[in-house]
Amino acid sequence: MGATMDFEQLAEQVDRLTEEVLRIEDEGARESAIRLKEAVEAIHREALVQIVRRLKEDDATLAALRELAREPAVRMVLMLHELIKPPLGTRVQPALDEVRPYIHSHGGDVELVELVDGTARLRLSGACQGCPGSTMTLRNGVEQALRRHAPELVGIELVEEERAAGALIALDAISVAGSAARLPDPAGGWRLAMPLAQLSAAGVTRAEIDGVDVLLAQPNGKLVCYRNVCAHMSMPLDAGEVSNGVLTCPWHGFQYDLESGECLTAPEVQLEPVPVRARAGIVEVRLAGVASL
Ligand code: FES
Repeated sequence: MGATMDFEQLAEQVDRLTEEVLRIEDEGARESAIRLKEAVEAIHREALVQIVRRLKEDDATLAALRELAREPAVRMVLMLHELIKPPLGTRVQPALDEVRPYIHSHGGDVELVELVDGTARLRLSGACQGCPGSTMTLRNGVEQALRRHAPELVGIELVEEERAAGALIALDAISVAGSAARLPDPAGGWRLAMPLAQLSAAGVTRAEIDGVDVLLAQPNGKLVCYRNVCAHMSMPLDAGEVSNGVLTCPWHGFQYDLESGECLTAPEVQLEPVPVRARAGIVEVRLAGVASL
């Protein structure tokens, strides 16, 4: 944690000095200082782009890059230079939050059910449910917001909760980026994770499957899986403590309800869910549409 504190102190120093620069009264001096900062950052970004591009060319160096990206300072710098994107799920939620007032004005609500093959499956509820105008509501509001926040999404699928059986029925598929939603692969994107018996009974269990880092847990007996990424600063959560179904991030203390993935510290964000199931004592996760580094 010593190195982490050093990094955080440096980051705070940068913030403090930046504020001081912005308060310089002499306009010419202030703009020169800002341009100097931007020029240094541009050099760093150019160098980092070349380093990351080269490391991604080879499986062994890509693995080393992924390992490095778990270090707080490295991850933060890569994120600052937009070389690591926040998880897709954490960008879909702000998009939905953005249009929620509009959906509310139609007497309904919208929620993300899951991300599959790069397609966001959304559920409308309230007055929107089953309403013929639902598709237009999505086109006009949700689609535009998702394009801004998560342009790599390939589609939106509107699902409705069947009142009698609780099953999900696909109602419609809408192209977001002008491309059709993909057909599922033969395995449906499901991958073997581990024997169910290997899961921690009280805590979380980390697994890396096809390069995707996930957390598995069984709060209240319900099998759940999330990307091993904190919504605060995208640090790994697997060393976090679990108490009464609440996972606490080991880095800065964000807390999550393990059963729902909701963030108790900042309700506007949440853990990115990964579809999971157990069959014949084996845990399987569906990774299609879940991005790795
Ligand atoms: S990374 Fe800051 S609370 Fe998790």
